[in-house]
Parts: sequence; structure tokens; C-alpha cells
Amino acid sequence: MNASIQFNNVSLSYGDIADEVEVLKSISFSIDSNEVVSIVGPSGSGKTSIIMLASGLENATKGSIKINGDEIVGLKEKELSEVRRKNIGIVFQSFYLIPNLTALENVLLSLEANQQYGLEKDAENLLTEFGLSHRMHHLPSELSGGEQQRVAIARALINKPKIILADEPTGNLDSANSESMIDLLFDYTKKSNTSLVMVTHDSSIAKRCDRIIEIRDGQIV
Ligand SMILES: Nc1ncnc2c1ncn2[C@@H]1O[C@H](COP(=O)(O)OP(=O)(O)OP(=O)(O)O)[C@@H](O)[C@H]1O
Ligand SMILES: [Mg+2]
Repeated sequence: MNASIQFNNVSLSYGDIADEVEVLKSISFSIDSNEVVSIVGPSGSGKTSIIMLASGLENATKGSIKINGDEIVGLKEKELSEVRRKNIGIVFQSFYLIPNLTALENVLLSLEANQQYGLEKDAENLLTEFGLSHRMHHLPSELSGGEQQRVAIARALINKPKIILADEPTGNLDSANSESMIDLLFDYTKKSNTSLVMVTHDSSIAKRCDRIIEIRDGQIV
């Protein structure tokens, strides 16, 4: 009933008709508004593609995708970014921090994109919670991979999104740090009735989720 993400027979192809590659083949699934779901599967199976579609950063070739009940397939770029802004926090596989902004400024930028101002203290608190109190004013290039990842997660959470899409959020962390990062993500989702969709290669993390979606060759198995 209260599905936050609903895929119905969604296909995604790249290339033109002559050399079309079907990356996702008519997949259907639904994620409830407080569910924590992991997406697992081999490299190249289509996991990141699902994240890109759910966030409206890629257009489905066929099918229907609903975010909190609203169809997003066929929306214009401006409408998609509105849906994203209102509903979704994304943690990308390769962070995409803005290189010439400090850790704190990267998080603040996310607030400003949502027309939220004067929340510097909140951003500082979140970064502190993530163990980055001494790194707030550093540029991404001055941070370790794990620290950059924590900034990227803080940036996704600062707007209190109802849906978090995270592509390998612990890919660059050692096992102790990755456990504590996952604890933070799980705490947040439980506290705020948020759904979390997390791509992971780590089976111990996948097992902690409410449900596992396994994808192989662009299909759910
Ligand atoms: N822009 C693109 N143009 C053409 N093919 C693409 C494009 N992006 C992804 N693909 C192809 O789509 C398939 C699925 O890619 P995707 O990134 O979703 O895989 P993944 O499951 O996330 O893999 P990994 O675990 O390595 O991150 C791959 O075969 C990839 O080469
Ligand atoms: Mg990927």
C-alpha cells in the first residue's frame, strides 16, 4: 500500500537499435516506506542501473516506476529533479563530492539545493556524528577514501530524505568502519521511517537487511 518505490516491468537499454544492449530486462519489485533492502549480484548485472532509474538519473526504456505513488517515467528533467529533491538521498558508488568545496561545504550545498539555509550547525553535528569533526574544513582530495564516503553519506542524509539510495556505501571502508557506517544508516532509517536501498558486495551487510534482491544479467532471481 505505502510502497515508496515501485518498479513494474522496467527495462533499460543502452545504444541505438543496431547495437542495443538490454541492461535490465522487465524487472518488477516494490519497496515499502520503512524497508531496508539490499541489492546484490555480480559486477555488470545492473545494480547501479537500478539506482540510476529509481533516482530518475536514467530513463527507463519501458515500464513504470513510481516514487511514493507518483509515476516518474516520462517526466521532464525539471520535474525529475523536483521528485529527487523532495524524496531521495543518493550515495553514489564513486562519491561525486565537489572537489573545490570542503567537507562541510559539500554537505551545505545539498541543503542549499533544497532551499534550506542557516543549518550549518546541523551539518556540523552530522559530520561530527560521522567522526569527521576534525576534517570539516578539508577538501575531498585531503580526505581518505573512507572519509570521503562518510561525507557523501552525510550529504545524502542532511535533507532527511524518505528514500535513501546507496550504491556500495561501504565499498572503501575496512570492516570495522563499514559496520559503524551501516549502523549509522540503519539507525537513521529506523528513526525516521525511511526506506533504504543499498547495493552491496558484502554478504554480512546484505544479511542485516529486511530483504535481499538478487540481480543477475539484468533480471531478478
Ligand atoms: N552509459 C552506459 N552505456 C552503455 N552501457 C552501460 C552504460 N552504463 C552501464 N552500462 C552497462 O550496463 C551493465 C550494467 O551496469 P551496472 O553499472 O548497472 O552494473 P553493476 O551491477 O552496478 O556492476 P558493478 O558491481 O561493477 O558496479 C554493464 O554491462 C555496463 O557495461
Ligand atoms: Mg555498480
